[in-house]
Formats: sequence, structure tokens, C-alpha cells
Amino acid sequence: MRLLAIETSCDETSAAVIHDGTVLSNIVSSQVDLHGEYGGVVPELATREHLRNLPPVVTAALEAAHWGSSELEAVAGTQGPGLPNALMAGLKAAQGLAFALNVPFVGVHHHEAHLYSPWISGSPPKANFDALQPNVSLIVSGGHTILVHVRAELDHIVLGSTLDDAAGECFDKTAKLIGLPYPGGPEMDRLAAQGNPQAYDFPRPLLRDATDDFSFAGLKTSVRYFLQKNRDILETEQSRRDLCASVQAAIVEVLVVKTMRAAKRLGVRCVTASGGVTCNSRLRHELKAACDRDYLTLRLADRALCTDNAGMIGILGERKLMQGNLAGALDGEARPTWNLTNSS
Ligand code: KG4
Ligand code: ZN
Repeated sequence: MRLLAIETSCDETSAAVIHDGTVLSNIVSSQVDLHGEYGGVVPELATREHLRNLPPVVTAALEAAHWGSSELEAVAGTQGPGLPNALMAGLKAAQGLAFALNVPFVGVHHHEAHLYSPWISGSPPKANFDALQPNVSLIVSGGHTILVHVRAELDHIVLGSTLDDAAGECFDKTAKLIGLPYPGGPEMDRLAAQGNPQAYDFPRPLLRDATDDFSFAGLKTSVRYFLQKNRDILETEQSRRDLCASVQAAIVEVLVVKTMRAAKRLGVRCVTASGGVTCNSRLRHELKAACDRDYLTLRLADRALCTDNAGMIGILGERKLMQGNLAGALDGEARPTWNLTNSS
């Protein structure tokens, strides 16, 4: 199947071309610089930028794949969850294109696309769903932290999620307290590489809790109080690095311990992870070490597919159409609060 996918759920405008499970092109136009000035995503600005960026991004994706729009056999678009108007911009463009070309449209759940993204790899990236085995999957992004039991392809249930801030939000908000530019996650990762993760002791929220839920707001608050009492820490480069490493260690320990505990309890032999925070070097390293210790297979989404992109939307959209999912309605509305469990 020759499919075009569009993603605009937050602050990345992306279009991808998929052909029989292979990502031929995956163009991402990030708005990080625009929102950086405000210290976070401004929804109205994001929508305006999507409207401005969609035509050139879609054209670039088709050109990179050496295809004309008349060759497309289907169009996929992110239908939710995400920022309401941002979602609507890409969804309506995808539905309009499907209508104009008289081809099926499929609306894709953004987190479900993250969930299956660890099964896309190689160059060019190719989906390998034949290798899929039951797994426990960690989805960690700027807005969500979700633990999922994948029983088989497109058969999954949510085990737990964050009760307040997401892991990425915790990285970004604590980074802001430390004075790092938005988004703080990548910058914290970079500074933490030369810091001592045991220098300062921060709480590991819900680490020993019996549920699979997470909570990161308290950790952010404890960093705020810590900095109010120890302002001088920000004055030397090494103590800033140590602080970044210590905060990162607290976030990562909670994510890894809870993921591994769920995997053991459910008896799966495989763990996967996806979403922007899966770019984090310590998270990748610690998940690998934990899986090696327990002889579990680990599949991490490729770094290029961790942050928001239309490639993962297109791979899942194509899969759904191939498995006989009815094409979505051309006038279906955006679903900003769409629940993952009900997505398939
Ligand atoms: O999945 P994503 O691109 O967007 C959402 O759907 O939210 O994730 C963005 C999040 C941001 O919070 C960003 O700081 C975080 O992923 N992130 C990282 C790293 N790279 C991106 N957090 C920690 N370490 C990184 N290397
Ligand atoms: Zn995302």
C-alpha cells in the first residue's frame, strides 16, 4: 500500500510516505525554537505554524519518496490525543487530501503509534511486526507516561499512567528551575553525562507503590525547595552537572524499576520503550542493563522515531487498513482526550 501520513498533535509538523511497511520519507518540522521563547508550547502559535508548515512538509515528504500525490492509495492522520486545534489542522488536511484523491482515510491514535514504534527499525526504517512478542511497554513523552501490556499485535491494555506530571514534563520543569533552555530534557541529559548521579538525593515517587501508576509532581517540587535552600549550587558548572545527573537518576530509576516489575509480574520475556524521553541516554542504558540481568529482550524505539513523527503514524495506519479496519470517516472529529485502551 502507498500511504501518506500526517502528524500535528503537538509542536511538530510531520508528513511521511509509507510503502508496504517501509518508511520512504519522514519529514519533521519542529517548532522548538518558536516555543522556546515562552518556556513551553503555546497552543495558538502551534496551530498557526502547523497551517503554515503543512503544505511544504507534505510536498517535501512526497518529493523525498519520489512520488506524486496521484500515486497514493490511502492517507493516515493523527486523530488524538493532543492539543485540540493543532490536531484539527493536520487531521482536516489528511481527510481533505483523502477526499480529493478518493482514497481511504485512517485516523490514528498517537500513543498507539508510539507503542508499536519500537518494531520499526533499519535504514530505511521498516516495520517488523512478525518479530512482535508479548511485552511490557513504557511510553514516555512530554505529556504522558504510560505503562502498557501488549499481548499481541494491536491487542494491548493500559496498566498504569501518571497521576500528575509526565516524566518529560518533570525533565522540562526541573530543567527550567536549573536555568536550562526549553525543552530541558535533552539539555539535562547532556549535562548529566558529566555529573555524579549520587551527589544529591531526591525522592523516587511511587517506587514501592503496588500499582503501575507514576507521579512526578512531588519530585519537581522537592527540586524547587532544594534550590531555594541551596542557591549556590547553580553557581558552579560541576554542581549544576551533578544536580542534573541526580534528578535524571531519580526519574530513570522510577521508570526502570516499575517497568521491570510489571514485566516480571506478567511473565513477559520482552520490554519495549518509546516516546521523546526514550532518547535519554541513562534511561536507554539502565533499561538495557536491567533486561540483560533478567534475560529479557529489549526493544527501544530508534532515536529518530522517539520524538513525534508521521512515520510511526503511517506504519500503524497502513497496518490497520491492511488488517481490515474500516477506513475512518472523512468528517471524523479530532479526539484530544482519546483513551489508549479503547483505540484498537
Ligand atoms: O514524544 P515527544 O516528542 O512529544 C510529546 O508527545 O510530548 O516528547 C517530548 C519530550 C520533552 O519533554 C523532552 O524534554 C523529552 O521528550 N526528551 C528528553 C530527551 N529528549 C527528549 N528527555 C530526557 N532526555 C532526553 N535526551
Ligand atoms: Zn508523542
